[in-house]
Amino acid sequence: MKNTLSILILFILLANLLFAQNSPALFKNSQSMMPVGAYYYPEHWPKEQWERDLKKMAELGFEFTHFGEFAWSRMEPEEGNYDFGWLDTCIALADKYNLKVILCTPTPTPPAWLTQKHPEILSKSEAGFTQSHGSRLHVSYNHPTYLFYTEKIVKALAERYGQDERVSGWQIDNEPHFGQLYDYSSFQEKEFRLWLRQKYKTTEALNKAWGTAFWSQTYNHFDQIPLPNANRVGQGLNPHHRVDFRVYMGEALASALRFQTEILRKYVKKEQWITTNYAYFKFLPPVDPFLNRNDFDFASHTMYLTSQYLNDEGGALAHRLGSGLELSFSQEMAHSVNGKTGIMELQPGQINWGKFNPQPLPGAVRMWLWHAFALGDEFACAYRFRQPLYGGEQTHYGILMTDGISVQRGGKEYVQAIQEIKTLKHDKAVTVPNVYKKRKTAFLWKQTNLLDLENQPHHNDWNTWQHYYDYYSALKTMGASVDFITEEDNFDPREYPFMVASAYQRINQALIEKWWEYVQKGGHLILTCRTGTKDSNGWLWESKLQEPIWDLIGAEIAYYDHLPANRPGKVMLDEKEYNWHIWADIMNPKANTESLLTYSDQFYQGKTAATTRSLGNGSVSYIGAWSDNGKLERDILHKIYQSKNIEILDLPPYVFVEWRNGYWVAVNYSSEAVTLSLNPQSTIIIGNQQLKPGGVTVWQDK
Ligand code: GAL
Repeated sequence: MKNTLSILILFILLANLLFAQNSPALFKNSQSMMPVGAYYYPEHWPKEQWERDLKKMAELGFEFTHFGEFAWSRMEPEEGNYDFGWLDTCIALADKYNLKVILCTPTPTPPAWLTQKHPEILSKSEAGFTQSHGSRLHVSYNHPTYLFYTEKIVKALAERYGQDERVSGWQIDNEPHFGQLYDYSSFQEKEFRLWLRQKYKTTEALNKAWGTAFWSQTYNHFDQIPLPNANRVGQGLNPHHRVDFRVYMGEALASALRFQTEILRKYVKKEQWITTNYAYFKFLPPVDPFLNRNDFDFASHTMYLTSQYLNDEGGALAHRLGSGLELSFSQEMAHSVNGKTGIMELQPGQINWGKFNPQPLPGAVRMWLWHAFALGDEFACAYRFRQPLYGGEQTHYGILMTDGISVQRGGKEYVQAIQEIKTLKHDKAVTVPNVYKKRKTAFLWKQTNLLDLENQPHHNDWNTWQHYYDYYSALKTMGASVDFITEEDNFDPREYPFMVASAYQRINQALIEKWWEYVQKGGHLILTCRTGTKDSNGWLWESKLQEPIWDLIGAEIAYYDHLPANRPGKVMLDEKEYNWHIWADIMNPKANTESLLTYSDQFYQGKTAATTRSLGNGSVSYIGAWSDNGKLERDILHKIYQSKNIEILDLPPYVFVEWRNGYWVAVNYSSEAVTLSLNPQSTIIIGNQQLKPGGVTVWQDK
């Protein structure tokens, strides 16, 4: 019996391995591990230029192009009157030059005839302004009238191209989100009430969940419930009301995306994949890609590294090199949704919409492509091929200059990276090196935590993203690859030897048990401040502060403290002192729990700020203080990982090292050259051991 079981397990493992290796490439017949394409908008150019442009695209080494996402008024110039002739021609031309095609549904840009006929589909801002035609993203995506028209256009596209060999896949919409993030239209108010009715069934249940006894907010009927609008209340909104609305908006968006995938699935052949391109996770908190993980084949991502809105601190060249951390985060987040991803938009040069728009450092564009490769992107797509001569993105670089013929500097770097990546051999038998596997880390993710924390930051300087990034970037300095996982996923310590749950505010008993099991089986769990303060409904526990996790962490949390920025407190880790001012949990470790970090001033001087303990085959650490510059987070994670005898890297900030398909790749977003510590048996394939700012080094270990 035992033997049969082992054979069965072996068989399943082998089958999985074979399946993983043979999983079809997203672009058939590509010779590259990361085929590169470029956006092309035929509707922006005279038709006499289409062939010249697509031919040029192919000659430069691009393998696919991308059509259609904003072309609704060209596809359906008047209601029910479709025109796909131009798209037929362009797909045929792309095919003539061996370019595969990604087709996109045009739903971010409804035509004027539609919004004029149905102004009720326009969305409304929190300030009370109804959006008008003249930009994009101006409708309520989930409005039945909008869905009616969406269905017609998506069906027309799918019927025409769903069996077409030349089309590799579909992108639904573009960077999906509501134009003003949250839609305050009267339509949403009605829908939100219905959603609440479904969730709570009775107003009694809702009143209880929202704690409406507080300030006499009790509702007698669902129709009394307004949208939580900060402009219309004097003293702050009920937090439960607001978080529910934000969760509702995320679900409304997810269901509108699902609506489109369901139409496509009916008509398109199974070889054509379906995705959407998620963007700017940090600016779009209600957009939860995990809600659509069963709808899309994978989630793709987009990134504009030099916008200066992103996390781009660093040295003198940071603004030109862009934010590598954001590229890394967005790739690993999108990859985590279904285990594969590609970068759908990547800038080839200067952009137009940043705080300011610096020229990328020579080499930076090539480095971004290599970084995307290193992270595992299965394709990359340049946004865009030609720089537009008119419209809202006039000054946004393309691969080509404004003459439509000459390749600009960043375009040449694309060509270089395309050629370089093509020279790599894809050895399908190669397996992930142990060192890389052993430091792989799961980052536990729950969108509601983010919404909840942002809703009640509790300290003006609290920034949930910064907290996440301090831990995420600490992981990257160790060369750890990161998967974002949800509570529903498998917590398997063999796959994820480490797990970080940072400021994981809302928990329940099931999660606590899952954590126990993970740790007992050998996992190393790292929790950070605020974790477990609330139950899954967003209530404080009727117990002492975070008491439900005390047994797990082996410590009590007595209270927390906040300070003004100009009066920071201090904590000590092994003789090294760090400032903090936003959050500090003051802890009392129990027997057999080690104190990792101590407060070195304030009235609780000498008390514990972080703990660690062994439990079963694993360990639990709790880091209660958040430092002012992320240095503590880096040092303490290094210490914890090292104490488990894990081989970690010690990379300077803004330098990244990843492993993919047999190749190690290092990229340098810092402003200083760094010397990579390579093994004697490493063979450098591209670049040098000395890695310049904007540089790329690729090597193999034999
Ligand atoms: C992206 C967007 C594109 C284009 C691009 C310009 O965020 O998806 O449609 O506007 O920015 O950089």
